[in-house]
Amino acid sequence: MSTHSPHSMQPQSGRRPDRYSQASHATGLADTELSELSQGLLAPQASISPKYLYDTLGSKLFEALCLLPEYYPTRTEAAIFEARRSEIAQAVPRQAVLIDLGAGNCAKAETLFEPLRPSHYIAVDISADFVRSALRRLRPRHPGIRMQALGQDFSRGLELGDDVPSRGRLFFYPGSSLGNFAPPEARRFLRGLKESTADAASLLLGVDLVKDIEILQAAYDDALGVTSAFNLNVLRNINRILGTDFDVRHWQHIALFNPTHSRVEMHLQARHDVLVSWNGHSRRFSQGERIHTENSYKYTREGLAKLLEESGWTAGEFWTDEAEWFAVVHARSESTHP
Ligand code: AVI
Repeated sequence: MSTHSPHSMQPQSGRRPDRYSQASHATGLADTELSELSQGLLAPQASISPKYLYDTLGSKLFEALCLLPEYYPTRTEAAIFEARRSEIAQAVPRQAVLIDLGAGNCAKAETLFEPLRPSHYIAVDISADFVRSALRRLRPRHPGIRMQALGQDFSRGLELGDDVPSRGRLFFYPGSSLGNFAPPEARRFLRGLKESTADAASLLLGVDLVKDIEILQAAYDDALGVTSAFNLNVLRNINRILGTDFDVRHWQHIALFNPTHSRVEMHLQARHDVLVSWNGHSRRFSQGERIHTENSYKYTREGLAKLLEESGWTAGEFWTDEAEWFAVVHARSESTHP
């Protein structure tokens, strides 16, 4: 796992896609989650929640795909932060309370410490242990910043304690993870952030933009087959969690852009007729039938501004790369104090 120097903007490993729990926790899944998984497999259009992509191997495969030449989001976002660091520093609140959503190894946020000079850094991640150990590393390097680790699945709502100052909050949600929410979920999530404080707040968001289909297609179906392995691995994870008997060799990775919903979809397609059994259930998949495993929404500037507005935020600065493949967006919300 790479740690990070403030001046290097290499693609960051160690930052898991934030809204998903690690499936290593998942063997202890609640009955409702197991039943949702079963229901998803039995539905006419079968699906598996993308959170199950991230078991230990899946998380490693995700880190690996972020290094692929075809997968532009990670390096493009990093380049925007590098090129626009002083503009970003001028736009966001001074001495902010930086709240890093899905902090992982905290490497991305650390690149902002020098330009932004936050007063506090709150690292939120599903794995409290992971962020705690990252903060042990960071504290001696940044003695002027008060740091706190919070272990939370914030996709279900963010709970910040009273000890997190309410004024000057700057939520940091990079990596285009917002794109893995369907729009209603994204609105709910963004509204929840806004409503977590009565004071004015800021949001720094990394989002992937609509672009040529070939570029999107390649990013989600790379030549080395890393994304294919990442997608197929979900079946092994489900075998472990649910006791299904999927054989990954019977399935093929499919990535396609759905223009109606402006999203890249990942599916697994049966190579031939397959019978899958688990726990008293079974499902026959015909050759060519698909299991839907992920959506990755791609935004336009206007679409994103609308989404933010509908969620109580006002889109402000919009920084992008030259090709306009990716954007870093700053949004603000007003104080609701009487
Ligand atoms: C985590 N998330 C933003 C990635 C994406 O691009 O939607 C997950 C991913 N799926 C395939 N490649 C990467």
